Amino acid sequence: GIRLNRICCIGAGYVGGPTMATIALKCPQLEVVIVDMNEDRINRWNSDDLPIYEPGLPEVVKACRGKNLFFSTDVKKGIEESDIIFASVNTPTKTQGVGKGRAADLRYIESVGRTIAQYANRSKIVIEKSTVPIKTAEAIARVLSANETANGGHKNFWILSNPEFLAEGTAMKDLDEPDRVLIGGQEQDAIMVLADIYANWVPRDRILMTNLWSSELSKLVANAMLAQRVSSINSISRLCERTGADVKEVARAIGTDSRIGPKFLNASVGFGGSCFQKDILNLVYICQQFGLDEVASYWQQVVDMNDHQKSAFTGKIIQSLFNTVTKKKIAILGFAFKKDTGDVRETPALMVCDMLMKDGGLVYVYDPKVLIEDALTEFKYHEIEVNTDQFIFSKSPEEACEGAHAIVVLTEWDEFKTYDYKKFYDKMMKPAFLFDGRNMLDHAELEKIGFEVHALGKGTGSSQRSKSPDFVMRASSGLLPSGGY
Ligand code: NAD
Ligand code: UDX
Repeated sequence: GIRLNRICCIGAGYVGGPTMATIALKCPQLEVVIVDMNEDRINRWNSDDLPIYEPGLPEVVKACRGKNLFFSTDVKKGIEESDIIFASVNTPTKTQGVGKGRAADLRYIESVGRTIAQYANRSKIVIEKSTVPIKTAEAIARVLSANETANGGHKNFWILSNPEFLAEGTAMKDLDEPDRVLIGGQEQDAIMVLADIYANWVPRDRILMTNLWSSELSKLVANAMLAQRVSSINSISRLCERTGADVKEVARAIGTDSRIGPKFLNASVGFGGSCFQKDILNLVYICQQFGLDEVASYWQQVVDMNDHQKSAFTGKIIQSLFNTVTKKKIAILGFAFKKDTGDVRETPALMVCDMLMKDGGLVYVYDPKVLIEDALTEFKYHEIEVNTDQFIFSKSPEEACEGAHAIVVLTEWDEFKTYDYKKFYDKMMKPAFLFDGRNMLDHAELEKIGFEVHALGKGTGSSQRSKSPDFVMRASSGLLPSGGY
């Protein structure tokens, strides 16, 4: 018989760690072990210096670790002793071979299947927590059953899909009060085992049950739709800059339409993070495989628009600084892909800094949580060469801004709102520029100090506005009195 009081999670990352810590907290009757082949990561999970920064996480880990939450590198033991196994390993974009740059690299998820097949001593429920292409459950099931048959065994494996919707920076809250939990599967009994675990803290009507393929696909589609909103508002920000409209006002106006809703309409330097781009590219690849070329190119546009946004934003910086940033110090506030995380995977800061450095700029980064090693690792992953004479991490925002020609805000950390920008201004080169890639600062106040402010989706100051083609056209056509706008 299945023993349902032990859970093993393979993969102690941004998803496995917070998710399992939450299960351990909410279900004291269960024992949860998280295993990972990365020994350094496991050691940090077992220390006071957790491998990921996530608000609220240390408290939960502290409350449960050593009681009903364990971190270990012993994958074999984890599998043997548990009958419910989550696979929460990474599924990055393939960097070589067929589907390079688009398809999901399933080597880790496949290796989990093979490892379970190798060590499973009795029947198990295997749960895909990772984001995977549609039909991956079938692949895992085949790996498991083929090995089982070859070994002449009679164990059963029930495969479930249980994608995770948490966002970094708010993971603990998202897990505590999820909009929904999604469980896909073929056998009702197995589905109910997992549903009962979540029901310890999630209302039953928020636990959605469906078939495997709908569940797998829903995760890709959720991320694609969210990213599409960001690219849509970003595309409009470009139009706003040319016309004198303010993208914040447009977002406010359309966001009050209950069919559109107010969330995820913040124009930005571009979306980042380990999921959005990877999952859309994966969706594009799947569509192409089924010959749905128009569908594929529709979604590809979301990624293309995002790349355009990043380069257009940086292009504007270089252009404003008299077409060159060679030997100019540029202060970068924020390197993480969003606030409240130290994660730099696919952060828009990569492209911005790379373009500035290629133009000869000296980039001084201040981020409250990001480590320079992680930033350099991410550049390397993208095969971007970085000269460390041009890429410097500052210990404080003051240090980054002193003597700089421009401040560039790339992450919306709350503390950036609290700084004394007058002090920064006094020690900067003049004219002092500020580019707000998150539209988060008080631009009127900054202009009063003396900054030339470039916000997203908004003309620069009043001088810029009177030069807008829209104004010139309307004024000369006599529709507006000259000078008024
Ligand atoms: P991650 O890279 O932080 O963690 C994955 C971990 O799995 C790594 O520590 C790695 O060492 C380990 N691992 C890989 N193969 C292994 C194996 N065979 N045995 C043992 N350990 C192994 O990744 P993540 O950000 O936690 O994402 C995991 C999955 O969840 C991905 O599919 C991702 O798309 C999805 N997801 C991520 C987020 C997010 O916000 N990061 C949100 C929802 C879904
Ligand atoms: C995302 C999904 O939200 C989550 O459900 C999924 O499980 C994993 O992927 P995450 O990438 O952690 O989560 O953060 P998210 O808050 O979605 O932000 C993604 C990117 O979009 C960030 O770079 C963020 O700054 C950007 N963004 C978001 C905007 O530029 N504007 C917005 O209005 C919202």
